[in-house]
Amino acid sequence: MAVNGRKVADAPARFAGEGEIADPGLADAGFRRVERTDDGMPVLRAIRAHFEREKPLQGQRIGACLHVTAETANLLRALKAGGAAVACCASNPLSTQDDVAAALVKKYAIPVFAVRGEDRDRYYAHMRAVLESRPTLVIDDGADLISQLHTDFRAQAGQVLGAMEETTTGVIRLRAMERDGALAMPVVAVNDAQTKYLFDNRYGTGQSTLDAIMRVTDMLIAGSVFVVCGYGWCGRGVAMRARGLGAQVVVTEVAPLRALEAALDGFQVMPMRAAARLGDIFTTVTGDRGVIGAAHFPLMKDGAVLANAGHFDVEIDVAALRKMTRKVDRDPAREAETFHLPNGRRLHLLGQGRLVNLACATGHPPQVMDMSFATQALSAQWVARSSRLPSKVHEVPANLVERIAALKLKAMGVRIDALSAEQKRYLASWQSGT
Ligand SMILES: NC(=O)c1ccc[n+]([C@@H]2O[C@H](COP(=O)([O-])OP(=O)(O)OC[C@H]3O[C@@H](n4cnc5c(N)ncnc54)[C@H](O)[C@@H]3O)[C@@H](O)[C@H]2O)c1
Repeated sequence: MAVNGRKVADAPARFAGEGEIADPGLADAGFRRVERTDDGMPVLRAIRAHFEREKPLQGQRIGACLHVTAETANLLRALKAGGAAVACCASNPLSTQDDVAAALVKKYAIPVFAVRGEDRDRYYAHMRAVLESRPTLVIDDGADLISQLHTDFRAQAGQVLGAMEETTTGVIRLRAMERDGALAMPVVAVNDAQTKYLFDNRYGTGQSTLDAIMRVTDMLIAGSVFVVCGYGWCGRGVAMRARGLGAQVVVTEVAPLRALEAALDGFQVMPMRAAARLGDIFTTVTGDRGVIGAAHFPLMKDGAVLANAGHFDVEIDVAALRKMTRKVDRDPAREAETFHLPNGRRLHLLGQGRLVNLACATGHPPQVMDMSFATQALSAQWVARSSRLPSKVHEVPANLVERIAALKLKAMGVRIDALSAEQKRYLASWQSGT
């Protein structure tokens, strides 16, 4: 069989089986949530209607590795409406919403391999199950699936027309592969589109991280010292929302420009060692490892809260914390663990150090995922329609980004001015001055 002039191995038109989920009995509850979430995603809904008519993804098999949430379900519905056979696994062992997974399988006939709380072996087995269906397009969040296609599933890499990457950490890994000459397929850096990072990383992570911390701890944020590690797109959002709730926000950084920006935005900026003594709540959002570690835990106040909103669970050195701890109390109902340190102080770790907004809450609101997933859907269409993109990291085409922004404004009922002919001429010229 050939897709866009490229030969791909024959495989069933649909993914075999229903996948593996926790409990099919949750399908009705999940269905109600997916449909309600759809109300907050008007741009994706318009794309779904367009896909239903045009079928731009006909003949494609899409393997997705994403957080299995109600918003993701609506992306998968749109891709299926476009004519693709779709299968999905989780991009994090602790972010799966089991009711949504059940609804995808039972109500939308989309195979899902994801169970909340799955161990590492099962997480990778689920990824393999998606890859065994030989996808022609891949949608990834963190580049785990793409990385499998460069190792255990290397033989299949040439059959992938293109992959879309959702998050900063994934794009960093893919650019490293490109630098090393190791990238064997075209990938689209969806994270780097303005319709993604400006809104999802900032407003999505900002709101949902605070939501998660409040759900688990019931703490009053006002008056607390809230330490944000990393002042990137996510960090700016978390800092902004913590300040909005009345916290005294402290920022730690390693990049001089970002630190300067945080200082001029009115936040206290200091090294982690100094911040460790002051914070009531710590949130890491760096994409880096060991940001809070053995040197910091003994300095922290009794009752300090530790949360990570970065992609991988490496930002807080949980192994070092376990090693230095006398006793750990677990509260599985609240996704929190209390570590009793030898100095008598207690530290509360949320969501096992995994991304807190998905482990301890429901992740980003649909209104923001509307733009992220519209960017994914249109990027998938772009790759499917392009002939032979080179194996490198591609930007999302600017016209797609502008179209999504215009559609979102329209859906929000926001109108803007248009340039006059004279203004267009002026903005394109260099001759006219004072
Ligand atoms: N929780 C979510 O839902 C969600 C959403 C989007 C992105 N992410 C993830 O969040 C992380 C951050 O994403 P971003 O878009 O803000 O990235 P970014 O590159 O814009 O910002 C990261 C910042 O962290 C800083 N940093 C790196 N190492 C540091 C250290 N040791 N101490 C202090 N600061 C340090 C960098 O200088 C940079 O300014 C990534 O892992 C990304 O994949 C999570």
